[in-house]
Amino acid sequence: SPPSMLGNRKDGSEIAVAENYADINWDELGFSLVPTDYMYVMKCAKGDKFSQGSIVPFGNIEISPSAGILNYGQGLFEGLKAHRTEDGHVLLFRPDENAQRMKRGADRLCMPSPSPGQFVNAVKQIVIANKRWVPPPGKGSLYIRPLLIGTGALLGVAPAPEYTFLIYCSPVGSYQKGALNLKVEDKLYRAISGCGGTGGIKSVTNYAPVYTAMADAKANGFSDVLFLDSATGKHIEEASACNVFVLKDNAISTPAIDGTILPGITRKSIIDIAIDLGYQVMERSVSVEEMLGADEMFCTGTAVVVNSVASVTYKETRVDYKTGPATLSSKLRKTLVGIQTGCLEDKKSWTVRV
Ligand code: COI
Repeated sequence: SPPSMLGNRKDGSEIAVAENYADINWDELGFSLVPTDYMYVMKCAKGDKFSQGSIVPFGNIEISPSAGILNYGQGLFEGLKAHRTEDGHVLLFRPDENAQRMKRGADRLCMPSPSPGQFVNAVKQIVIANKRWVPPPGKGSLYIRPLLIGTGALLGVAPAPEYTFLIYCSPVGSYQKGALNLKVEDKLYRAISGCGGTGGIKSVTNYAPVYTAMADAKANGFSDVLFLDSATGKHIEEASACNVFVLKDNAISTPAIDGTILPGITRKSIIDIAIDLGYQVMERSVSVEEMLGADEMFCTGTAVVVNSVASVTYKETRVDYKTGPATLSSKLRKTLVGIQTGCLEDKKSWTVRV
C-alpha cells in the first residue's frame, strides 16, 4: 500500500518511502500511462518566481476553460527516466539537462520556470514518493513527465496570469516494438526553418500537428514519419518523438541543432559516447540522398532510448539498413543503458542518485 502521508519539505524528510513494489505485472510494460500514487504541483503567478511545491495524490487537475494552455497552447513538457540499479538504488539520468531545456523553452513562451535546483529537487521528491513504481532492474524504467503550463484564465492573446509546474510519472517498457520502418514525409513539416519557430523547444504545440502524417504512415504499414526541413525539403530533421543519426564507414552524422531540431539529451549523450568509442561525429545538415546511402541509421530519445531504423521510404524509393546485435546502434544502446542503470561506470557523472 502507498505511504499514508507525504510532506513537501525541501529535505524530503516527511516523505514516506514505499520500499515495496507496486502490484503490477512488470513483464507487460509498454509505453502507456500506468498512473502512480503521487504527482508534484507547484504554482506561480505571472511575474513571480516559483517557490514552494507539494506532493499530492495523482489525479485530475481543475483548470479554467479559459486557461492559457487550453486556449493558446502556452505549455512545455519534459521527459526523463529513473532506473533501479541491481543494488536497489534509483538513478536519474542528467535531470539538470531537462531543467535547463525547460528554462530555455519557458523564456521562449514567456513563462516563469522553476530554477534548475527546484526542478531537480522536485524530480527527486516525486521519484522517492513513487519509488514502488520504479520497475525492478531489467524490467524498464519510471518515465517522469514534468509539465510547465499556463493555468491562469484569460481571454485575449497574452501570457497567462498563473503557471503550474507539475510532474507525474509512469513505469514504462519499450516505446517502439523493434526496428523502425520510416516514411519520409514530404508535404507536412514539423518545424519552421531558421530560428523563428519553436522546433527547438519542447513546446506541447510541436506534437499534435504531426498526427495526420503519423496516422497516414501507420495506415500504410510504417512505424513512424521522418520530417524534412521546411525551407528546402532536402534535408532530414527528426521523427515524431526522436532524433536521428546516420552512419557511413566510421563517420556518424546527425542534423545540427539549428532551431528546428529538438536538442535531445539522449542525442547529446550518444554523441559523447560515440566519440569515446572512436567514431567521428558530425552535427550538420544531412541530405535525403546521404541518408539513403548510409550503412546504418538509428534514432535516439528518452522514450525510445536508441533504436535501429530498418528501412526508410522516400517517395518511391525504399532503402534497408543493417539491424540486429552487430549494429553500432545496439552497441550505443547497451553503453547508454549500462550507464543509466549503474551497470557501467559513469565516468561523466551523468547519473544522479535519488
Ligand atoms: C521523450 O522521449 O521523452 C519524449 O519526450 C518523446 C515523446 C514520448 C513525446
